[in-house]
Amino acid sequence: MKSENSLIDRNINIPVHIAIIMDGNGRWAKKRALPRSAGHAAGSKNFKTIARYCNKIGVKYLTVYAFSTENWNRPKEEVDALMNLFRDYLKDTKKFIKENIALKFIGNKKGLAKDIIELMEQAEYDSRNATGLTVNLAINYGGRDEITEAVKEIAELVKNNKINIEDINEQTIENHLFTKNVPDPDLVIRPSGEYRSSNFLIWQSAYAEYWFSDILWPDFKPRHLMKAIEDFNKRNRRFGGV
Ligand code: IPE
Ligand code: IPE
Ligand code: MG
Repeated sequence: MKSENSLIDRNINIPVHIAIIMDGNGRWAKKRALPRSAGHAAGSKNFKTIARYCNKIGVKYLTVYAFSTENWNRPKEEVDALMNLFRDYLKDTKKFIKENIALKFIGNKKGLAKDIIELMEQAEYDSRNATGLTVNLAINYGGRDEITEAVKEIAELVKNNKINIEDINEQTIENHLFTKNVPDPDLVIRPSGEYRSSNFLIWQSAYAEYWFSDILWPDFKPRHLMKAIEDFNKRNRRFGGV
């Protein structure tokens, strides 16, 4: 069997920022005649495995899509199960932080329960000195919502004569995104056989490399991530040049 460490030996370029749409939990559960919440629990467990692996191989940023602004449209029971999984995870971040992983959250705090927001802020604070992987958890995140919020903030600055319209540029917009100061994702991975962004990092992924796979998220192993990174290494990123 190929060692998972073999990646590091093979002179492979590790992407600085990997983003993952953690999709397929529901179908994973259905295949096993389990409730969808069991799929989400398995997905949450897998998130921890993949985050640790990213830390081990030297990825600097891992952004994971955990709950979209559109996911509120799901049955209340499922939304509650997901929120409870976030709670469980956020109460148990000590080991992660000990492993030198920093935790950050992107998404709209409006709409989240107060105790979840407090746990998020605590985790960010507790992990503020970590120098390994930074995990950005996208909870109540939508790319359109993020851009809308940025536009509102910038409009407010213009209204108060803090900036001129002529001075607004791409950097201005980036400074008002949740991902301010985070480099753009190099590689966006979507498992579960869907070929769409579903409103994930739509500004930031303008030049990201996409990698799709039929594997359902709870079955997505470090070796699949390794394969994605290997394929990424074969891509020719031109950024509009020749
Ligand atoms: C991804 O799995 C998790 C969330 C969207 C919260 P899904 O729940 O979307 O799983 P499928 O797509 O129904 O299989
Ligand atoms: C995207 O998956 C959101 C997350 C993985 C959190 P969805 O399952 O919500 O996306 P669609 O509905 O298939 O586009
Ligand atoms: Mg889905």
